[in-house]
Amino acid sequence: MPTAFITGASRGLGLEFTRQYAAEGWRVFAACRDPAGANDLRDIAAGAEDRVRILTLDVTDHGRIESLARELAGETIDLLLNNAGVMEPHDITFGNMDYGMWAGIFEINLLAPTHMAEAFVDHVAGSGRKLIVTLSSGLGSVALNEAGSRLAPGKLYMYRTSKAAVNMVMRGLSFELKDRGVTSVVVSPGHVRTDMGGPKARLGPEESIASLRELIDGLSIADSGKFFSHDGGELPW
Ligand SMILES: NC(=O)c1ccc[n+]([C@@H]2O[C@H](COP(=O)([O-])OP(=O)(O)OC[C@H]3O[C@@H](n4cnc5c(N)ncnc54)[C@H](OP(=O)(O)O)[C@@H]3O)[C@@H](O)[C@H]2O)c1
Repeated sequence: MPTAFITGASRGLGLEFTRQYAAEGWRVFAACRDPAGANDLRDIAAGAEDRVRILTLDVTDHGRIESLARELAGETIDLLLNNAGVMEPHDITFGNMDYGMWAGIFEINLLAPTHMAEAFVDHVAGSGRKLIVTLSSGLGSVALNEAGSRLAPGKLYMYRTSKAAVNMVMRGLSFELKDRGVTSVVVSPGHVRTDMGGPKARLGPEESIASLRELIDGLSIADSGKFFSHDGGELPW
């Protein structure tokens, strides 16, 4: 069975990815900041025999990313899922920017997925599937940031720029890693009912992740460098 490494597995979409991959029989390295407080994740691990291994990882801790990659040397990772992410509160916008917060969001949404890819590329390249999938958002699309868009044009500058930037990195990696057979894509899960997406979002986590898994299952190197919606369609940059 294949192996996935999932960041931000404590709740929301990372937790649901872990639940669904474990139920399908995958081995999962489920990384989160505080395993002791991640009760739902520990319940999944308890019901999955030894297939789910919980790892402590704050993705802003660059030393820990590297030590974890060394600890897992010799393991293959079919699917590196850069899922951990944060968004600023909706009332922080032009006129009352918080630049320290913006830098913090870049640390989590941009630098961390990049460092994860760099640290774990050998584990991925040595696997059968060789996939790096990074959770982005339609809000990271410059093309969709337009008048009349249902994605509220303007606003959420910190989140939007962090996702646009990680889109650029992950597309860059598609060229960088082609010779090693590694596929790098960015995906939008749609608007999902999690702590980030809020209670009024259209999709439930089960539905979003089931369709993302189907998309991921069908990926090949020919898809590398693309920006996908959870329903399998391509999104404009
Ligand atoms: N929900 C949506 O509608 C939606 C739409 C588009 C894109 N996305 C993207 O999908 C991904 C998952 O979102 P979500 O809705 O599941 O968000 P969420 O419910 O807010 O969960 C965020 C996850 O990221 C983790 N995280 C945050 N900072 C971290 C850090 N420094 N180190 C390690 N983990 C950290 C959190 O861990 P803690 O429990 O420790 O805080 C939590 O597990 C994100 O990248 C998000 O941008 C979501």
